[in-house]
Amino acid sequence: MANKKVIMVSGANRGIGLKVAQTLVAQGYSVSLGMRNLKDISGIDSKDHLLFEYDAMRRETAGNWVEATVKRYGRLDGLVNVAGILNVVPLEGGPENDDADEAALDALWQVNVKGPWWLIRRAMPHLKQAKTGRIVTVVSMSGKRVKGVSAGYAVSKFAQMALHHAARNVGWDDGVRSVAICPGWVKTDMITEVCKLPDDQIIQPQTIADLVVMALQLPNQASIGELTVQCELEM
Ligand SMILES: NC(=O)c1ccc[n+]([C@@H]2O[C@H](COP(=O)([O-])OP(=O)(O)OC[C@H]3O[C@@H](n4cnc5c(N)ncnc54)[C@H](OP(=O)(O)O)[C@@H]3O)[C@@H](O)[C@H]2O)c1
Repeated sequence: MANKKVIMVSGANRGIGLKVAQTLVAQGYSVSLGMRNLKDISGIDSKDHLLFEYDAMRRETAGNWVEATVKRYGRLDGLVNVAGILNVVPLEGGPENDDADEAALDALWQVNVKGPWWLIRRAMPHLKQAKTGRIVTVVSMSGKRVKGVSAGYAVSKFAQMALHHAARNVGWDDGVRSVAICPGWVKTDMITEVCKLPDDQIIQPQTIADLVVMALQLPNQASIGELTVQCELEM
């Protein structure tokens, strides 16, 4: 049976976002998929769902995408923030690294923090109208604790976590529930260069997609604020 709810998913062309989009469609949702380069998505007919250009580096695309979604479907029930980047930026370094590191930090801030910031700002009035609106942000365990020396990504993910909590406060009285999902290693392109664990010891993207869908479906009276998902023991 068709589910009439309309969910926006950023970063929907690959990795975790792709699995979220495909899982939602399989469950009968209408989806609006944001991606930098529009392309066919396996299992999703573009005649039945909206595929829209969204680039976190270009602020206006956030508003354009929300507007196009509401115009097409007449409603908005959920926003899933998945788009993100991992730049390795150590805290220590000589002046010869400063320009490159500053550019990498700016990109982390732009994509991981300001991207969802503008999407939440533009989506919130519509989510409030729905009375059971949902915002799910795929943060990271790096938004919960700092490991190793790659400080830049963790700093952006802690900021993204603050954004999620702010959204939770802002939307609560109008039934909007914001949920942060914080995985450890997930098998996607993002971690190919940095994760040393074998594939069978890390989280599959489908598992995170299933948790995102669960977070979207919980009733207003039972909202999870933060969900940590670990493939290694963390004390
Ligand atoms: N993989 C992990 O171990 C892991 C763990 C914890 C949290 N996370 C988080 O999960 C989220 C998804 O990561 P993933 O593992 O699925 O990574 P991924 O496979 O590298 O996919 C990243 C997605 O973000 C999109 N993106 C990047 N820059 C963008 C921009 N400027 N504007 C719009 N979209 C942009 C990419 O689009 P393009 O194809 O156009 O680049 C792609 O769809 C991220 O926020 C990440 O921090 C991942």
